[in-house]
Amino acid sequence: MAVDVLLGLQWGDEGKGKIVDVLGHRYDVVARFQGGPNAGHTLVIEGRKYVLHQIPSGIFHPGTVCLIGNGVVLNPVILQQELAALRAAGVDLSQRLLLSRRIHLILPTHRLLDKAQEASKGAAKIGSTLRGIGPTYQDKMARQGIRLGEVHLPDFAQRYAAIKAQHLRMLTMYGFGPADFADDLKEWEGLFEACLPELRELTLVDSEVYLNQASAEGKRILAEGAQGTLLDIDFGSYPFVTSSNTTVGGAINGLGVPPKHFGSVFGVFKAYCTRVGSGPFPTEIEGDEAERLRQAGAEFGATTGRPRRIGWIDIPALKYACMLNGVTELVMTKADVLSGMDSIRVCTAYELDGEVTERMPFVADAQVTPIYADVPGWTLPADADRYDRLPEGLIRYIELLESALELPIRYVSLGADRKYIVEKPLLQPNVLF
Ligand code: GDP
Ligand code: IMO
Ligand code: MG
Repeated sequence: MAVDVLLGLQWGDEGKGKIVDVLGHRYDVVARFQGGPNAGHTLVIEGRKYVLHQIPSGIFHPGTVCLIGNGVVLNPVILQQELAALRAAGVDLSQRLLLSRRIHLILPTHRLLDKAQEASKGAAKIGSTLRGIGPTYQDKMARQGIRLGEVHLPDFAQRYAAIKAQHLRMLTMYGFGPADFADDLKEWEGLFEACLPELRELTLVDSEVYLNQASAEGKRILAEGAQGTLLDIDFGSYPFVTSSNTTVGGAINGLGVPPKHFGSVFGVFKAYCTRVGSGPFPTEIEGDEAERLRQAGAEFGATTGRPRRIGWIDIPALKYACMLNGVTELVMTKADVLSGMDSIRVCTAYELDGEVTERMPFVADAQVTPIYADVPGWTLPADADRYDRLPEGLIRYIELLESALELPIRYVSLGADRKYIVEKPLLQPNVLF
């Protein structure tokens, strides 16, 4: 089984990019399957930081092909900037980036619509990254979007003009007149048009055919998720979600690879929780403790720079995420951020409508009270580079989560840099005499 999936189990920013980079050398292909530049995947390699928004996080492994699948929505201007940054960093990109011709394009007017739709929601705003993600998926579902392959068609300019005219009409419905957006539109359209020649030079493929063939040939493929399970359009805290399936089904549709090819599903989670944007967050904390963790974990959005909301680990939500995705192995990140605390809170269940439950509430404004267990903390020694050197408190924490989630934690990440990763040794089989 050639296709493994790696995705986030919380509200995004679990450290997926770092873990894809850590595992990337094992794969022939790393493929993004959904989302777009709302994602910010941070890699730190030999002290140098890189933030990827659309390019898969396997790009720093010269032997790995990176593919952007049909389920992604793409901003070509941001792609051009990402490519320029990689070239400047000396990354050889030749023959290494493939794009599905079925990818839907984020147009300048999609970004305007995102802004207008958010503004129209007032206090109920989603806290979108305003990258045009929602409006682009809306057009895809309405069967009127523009796909990347269309940039090669002779009537591309007319297609673009037609959808732009419709978007401008929609903007007036939201009460946005030309004076509200003329400057942005001029700037974004200028950038969009300027990047078209380079866009036409990229290697477009029928990625579903490419990946199925690669899988049949025994090549190893890693599908890289963006956002997190609790932001999934179907299963997240609707309506405070993103506009794509961030869960494992998104990898099937977003790459065109059937389930028979799938192998491991890596579920990545932080040793605590964060969320950017609005919406329910049962274990959220505020005040000094939250601020300490925010600073220690550098919890500021990689895409928007917004401070991330902070909370304790939420086992019912993680169980739900593991169930939905069929997770086969877990990766815990940022355990170092909790170092030095006397005790750590773990949410083991919720109280909802006077009942103790592990159920995810249906409505976003449900009054959920977390039920906590307090467990002993730990302090990381400087040489925590092997599992048997981890402090006892951390080992207990890992074992508690493994037993609650009934899944193994295969890797523990203890710092942003690629080098800070500890693999948990597999249990030795019993030797019977
Ligand atoms: P992603 O969107 O899931 O790829 O995650 P982000 O890159 O948005 O956010 C994760 C942040 O935590 C980034 O700044 C990473 O460099 C950083 N990070 C990843 N793993 C660890 C870790 O184990 N410890 C610490 N301290 N930082 C980490
Ligand atoms: P990565 O891949 C964290 C959040 C936004 C907002 C909601 C909808 O880096 O984990 P959208 O722009 O999609 O309309 O925003 O989803 N969001 C993310 N939060 N990490 C992300 O990506 C996110 N992508 C979107 O903050 O609440
Ligand atoms: Mg991120």
